[in-house]
Amino acid sequence: MSENMHAVVINAYGSVDELKDAQVPVPELGADEVLIHVFVASVNPIDLKLRNGQMQEQMPFQFPAILGGDVAGEIVAVGERVSDYQVGQAVMARLDIDPTGQHGGYAEYAAVKADKLALKPTELSFEAAAGLPLAGLTAWQGIVDQLNVQSGEHVLVQAGAGGVGSMAIQIAKARGAYVATTASARNADLLLDLGADEVIDYHHQFLTEELADYDAVLDTIDHVDEGLYILKTTGKLATVVGRPTERQQQGHPQAVAYQMHPDGSELKQLAQLVEQKALQVVIDSTYPMNADGVRAAQEKSANHHAVGKLILKNEQI
Ligand SMILES: NC(=O)c1ccc[n+]([C@@H]2O[C@H](COP(=O)([O-])OP(=O)(O)OC[C@H]3O[C@@H](n4cnc5c(N)ncnc54)[C@H](OP(=O)(O)O)[C@@H]3O)[C@@H](O)[C@H]2O)c1
Repeated sequence: MSENMHAVVINAYGSVDELKDAQVPVPELGADEVLIHVFVASVNPIDLKLRNGQMQEQMPFQFPAILGGDVAGEIVAVGERVSDYQVGQAVMARLDIDPTGQHGGYAEYAAVKADKLALKPTELSFEAAAGLPLAGLTAWQGIVDQLNVQSGEHVLVQAGAGGVGSMAIQIAKARGAYVATTASARNADLLLDLGADEVIDYHHQFLTEELADYDAVLDTIDHVDEGLYILKTTGKLATVVGRPTERQQQGHPQAVAYQMHPDGSELKQLAQLVEQKALQVVIDSTYPMNADGVRAAQEKSANHHAVGKLILKNEQI
């Protein structure tokens, strides 16, 4: 393996014009890491926020920085303390955000801690596997860890056509819930196919007039008041974008904000759902993994109407 690799990097915070093709060193392999030959990566809204500097106070980067954290590919090396993975295995992972900028998904190779990995289910293409980690983990951590959705409960998933929403619908269905979701009318059939029981066209219907006495709300669009309005008094709301105020929490102490965290054991549970045919990954479109491809994918993400995941395929594969 050569010492350098292709990656798409930024050298400064800014617009998509900052995304550049570059040759950078192949990441050094830590003792508890595996080195993945990245066949496919995916784009998530956080990549845009990291690129434009919106998150630089919480997560400052050194430049050049490789963005992207969802990858699928093949293991080409394992660190000395890794015993549960081997060279040649097909895997998927969500990387930790790396402030040094050296570890990212928009690259030929990524070094990933072994506890962030799961084997790629044979049922999933590499494209679908790269779309799974962040959106799937966010949905799982909302529906399971935060809301603890149970069979028979009524759950609202906001933005069902999004990466997170499309997974959350399926995870809630797999737990036996009744699932309502919001989307544009053109996406209703897809979401019903994924298992939604009811799709609210948010352009023409008021959620607060359609739903009442709900047990749980997963909020991905910062409509916390609207979500709280449809909950029963014992209901719970979890948001990945909003921050419930004291006033909102007074009425609903179970309104919480949470952040996705990479977690290999939860990724393995998502892989099991795939194997049970209870979870599929919706792909909006696939782009080449070069600066032009990443720019186009991030521009599509910025319009907030991608349906499922935006995928980047390594050109050498
Ligand atoms: N804090 C965290 O840990 C964390 C983790 C993951 C995601 N997030 C955040 O969560 C948000 C969602 O992420 P994502 O990956 O699912 O985004 P996404 O895939 O880009 O979401 C796009 C979808 O949003 C839908 N949408 C847009 N406006 C809507 C509205 N007013 N009502 C209902 N649906 C609407 C669109 O559906 P239509 O085309 O049908 O309108 C589209 O399919 C992002 O802001 C992201 O940054 C945060």
